[in-house]
Amino acid sequence: MLKNKTVVLGITGGIAAYKAVDIASKLTQAGANVRVVMTKSALEFITPLTFESITGNTVVTDMFQPNAEHRINHVALSEVADVIVIAPATANIIAKLACGIADDMLTCTVLATRAPVIVSPSMHTNMYENSITQENIAKLKKRGFKMIEPQAGRLASGGYGVGRLPDTETIIGAIRQTLGKNGDLKGKKVVVTAGGTQEAIDPVRYLGNRSSGKMGYAVAEAARDRGAEVTLITAPTALVAPAGIELIKVQSAKEMKNAVAKASAKADALIMAAAVADYTPKAAAKQKIKKGAGGLTLDLVKTPDIISEVKGKFLKIGFAAETENLLANAKKKLTGKGMDMIVANDVSAEGSGFGTDTNKVTILLKNGRQESLPLMSKREVAEKILDKMGKMMEGKM
Ligand code: PMT
Repeated sequence: MLKNKTVVLGITGGIAAYKAVDIASKLTQAGANVRVVMTKSALEFITPLTFESITGNTVVTDMFQPNAEHRINHVALSEVADVIVIAPATANIIAKLACGIADDMLTCTVLATRAPVIVSPSMHTNMYENSITQENIAKLKKRGFKMIEPQAGRLASGGYGVGRLPDTETIIGAIRQTLGKNGDLKGKKVVVTAGGTQEAIDPVRYLGNRSSGKMGYAVAEAARDRGAEVTLITAPTALVAPAGIELIKVQSAKEMKNAVAKASAKADALIMAAAVADYTPKAAAKQKIKKGAGGLTLDLVKTPDIISEVKGKFLKIGFAAETENLLANAKKKLTGKGMDMIVANDVSAEGSGFGTDTNKVTILLKNGRQESLPLMSKREVAEKILDKMGKMMEGKM
């Protein structure tokens, strides 16, 4: 996705300029050719040397750069860019872009480019909320710029408010989505579930499981990066909300069922990577249960089986988390739950299953075909699932 893509990273004069180092680093690690352009004000916060060391490319700071080793013409980067991202973007650069001003290398590059442009505003809350800035942002959006919402939190001024640069994952997620928008899943609606549901015992305790959500989030992000419109229904996790994905937070199996039923009404595929509780307390205690002299018995009832019960014309793809008889149990679930595909997951194998970054799975299709995959990253597993899903959608499987 990012491999061999040229990402022009514009850095402007805000305190969050130091965070652009991490963005440049992660993009470079992912195989992108990162070309950094800094405004004059950005140079007050961080030096080009940092970015040159990380990206291996000369940083452009001046349109004329008389002493530069290789002089670069003012539209050169606009032509080679696959995507331009400005992070952090100050109120000043946003205003200049909205007016079509081209008085430095960054504004010239943006004005001359045909590549998609992503802008990640970062500034003091009052500047961000000022109607001038908001009008400028609206103008840019109307012209097709992709804006990343700043986050709320502690600001450099010491106060709290909206204006913080989002974390690197969010910005890179937006870049990936932009680069993949014409991918093989363009126009498809995909609903993904992730994480482990929590079934309340009382206001303090719940029944849960070991799912971290990593597998489901990897599927959702991979589908987004292939052009799909993704809804991610997630039980509580510690993961960052992925950019460009509709996120619906739920807690219990019942809540997940309702969210899945609603979201999948217009979906082309439902991929259930969530570890859903099979049982829930018959009734959650209204107050915290006190420790008594004896033991505690919980009265449990079955939860709804979401993937079996949800109706629609979409493809149903499930997972089977097993500790024994992996394939036999997975096959039973594939037919018993009316799925089109199941991902058999040996959760007791080394590096596989709950909480890991890697997974070892066998993909089984309802036509009887199956493929066993070696241990690979959850992202790679996600791509394999989507390859098969895409073929099924085209009737080729
Ligand atoms: O989140 P990670 O830490 O990355 O871990 C990933 C994972 C191990 C959770 C994931 O790869 C996985 O295997 N998910 C499915 C876990 C599971 O609940 O499997 P199951 O065999 O109990 O259920 C089979 C299928 O039915 C699953 O798609 C499940 O979402 C679905 N189900 C289960 C129960 C229920 N009440 N309703 C359901 O729809």
